[in-house]
Amino acid sequence: MTNQDLGSRESQTPWTEAVERTPGGLKGAARSFAKALGTIRPAETEPKYKPAIPFGELHIFQSMNKHRSVANMFGLKNPFYRAHDGRLGAIAVHEGRELVNFASYDYLGLNQEPAVAEAAKAAIDECGTSVSASRLVAGERMMHRELERELADFYGSDACLVFVSGHATNISTIGLLMAPEDLIVQDELMHNSAIVGAKLSRATAINFRHNNPDHLEQVLRENREKHKNALIVAEGLYSMDGDFPDLRRLIEIKKRYGCWLMIDEAHSLGVMGKTGRGSFEHFGIDPREVDIWMGTLSKTLGSCGGYICGNRDLIEMLMYHAPGFVYSVGLSPPATAAALAALRVLKSDPARVAKLRANGHLFVEEAKKAGLDTMTSAGYSVVPVMVGDPVRAVRLTDRLLERGINALPIIHPAVPMKAARIRFFITSKHTPEQIRSTVKIVAEELANIAKRQSLMERATLAVVAR
Ligand SMILES: Cc1ncc(COP(=O)(O)O)c(C=O)c1O
Repeated sequence: MTNQDLGSRESQTPWTEAVERTPGGLKGAARSFAKALGTIRPAETEPKYKPAIPFGELHIFQSMNKHRSVANMFGLKNPFYRAHDGRLGAIAVHEGRELVNFASYDYLGLNQEPAVAEAAKAAIDECGTSVSASRLVAGERMMHRELERELADFYGSDACLVFVSGHATNISTIGLLMAPEDLIVQDELMHNSAIVGAKLSRATAINFRHNNPDHLEQVLRENREKHKNALIVAEGLYSMDGDFPDLRRLIEIKKRYGCWLMIDEAHSLGVMGKTGRGSFEHFGIDPREVDIWMGTLSKTLGSCGGYICGNRDLIEMLMYHAPGFVYSVGLSPPATAAALAALRVLKSDPARVAKLRANGHLFVEEAKKAGLDTMTSAGYSVVPVMVGDPVRAVRLTDRLLERGINALPIIHPAVPMKAARIRFFITSKHTPEQIRSTVKIVAEELANIAKRQSLMERATLAVVAR
């Protein structure tokens, strides 16, 4: 039978006649026919949902726009996403100008260290720029194991696992370990990655007041019994305020309430303790007292990635189940080799740690003398200068840039609306002269800005803050 035959036979049926009579031709007829047979319900013939709204109408975009209009109204330049040239150290280059840099966390100058760069280049020659697979399958390299062995030894732990991002390390570890019937009690200033990890786990998550172990105890007293497992999470040194918790007290509390303790050493590795081993060295504590040591490779170690050190069972569980590890590529050869080389420099050259300490203390001392509010900063690697309202903070950043200083504002939502500040990252590479002159300029500019802020600006800010 040919198509022609089919056509001629069909042309004689009532169906073809119906098609000719139906508005919409063949498609319309098919729809009416299906309706008549009951195979399509009437609602399915019409679009059920309105079209998706444009992204620009989402609340988050609208709120960004509101902030942008306020910034434009006050003539503020966007301080974020400024492009810099070359390697950032105590000096940064922006649009061809050299600036004294306080905006990056290369605390011991290891991103400037020739041995670190050489190790990364040699790793590319040997293993390429990527391991091109998850470590679970073909991505495992001997250099991963070497880095993990040295990090584990550093904490006296059984084992260690390195992830491709510090942020993913916290999310994956907390998200995997904790379950809906469990309890997470974390410092209210914990980094976003830990907060997201807690959400992912669906455990009950309760904040305790910043650096307030009495409040931590109260939360546990009221909630511990209702949950199966419990995890206390804190940072070794806080990235926004530059202060640190009483680790001895946290250990004592975690033992009494039957909890695990996880400490995020992102900003304390290479910074705290006489030889830069971090918060356990600062407190003279056996690191095995802490159940989970988390850290990043991106700060002191001049690389990219994160790590967990702990006992063998914990690490094995993460190796086979942590989503950001199993379902992600292995750490790249240059990042692995750079972190390993940097760790070795840190271990062999504690003088850098002493220099950083002296610089941090000098910054805080000078700032206090100049009447600046450095809040609770302990004078290590992070020193905030409290400004208060966000417009002033952005304006101060702008003025500092004009005067050759690179330091960025921290504004809402990273901190509460009225707690905007400029955050200074101090490194061992800053000179005392750079620190002294920076503090002097900050104090001058802050005073000028306060004098010039108009009544109109203050009123607008009050409206925006609502
Ligand atoms: C306390 C803390 N934890 C984790 C992270 C995430 O680390 P990374 O930037 O290496 O992904 C950061 C990053 O700034 C941090 O400050």
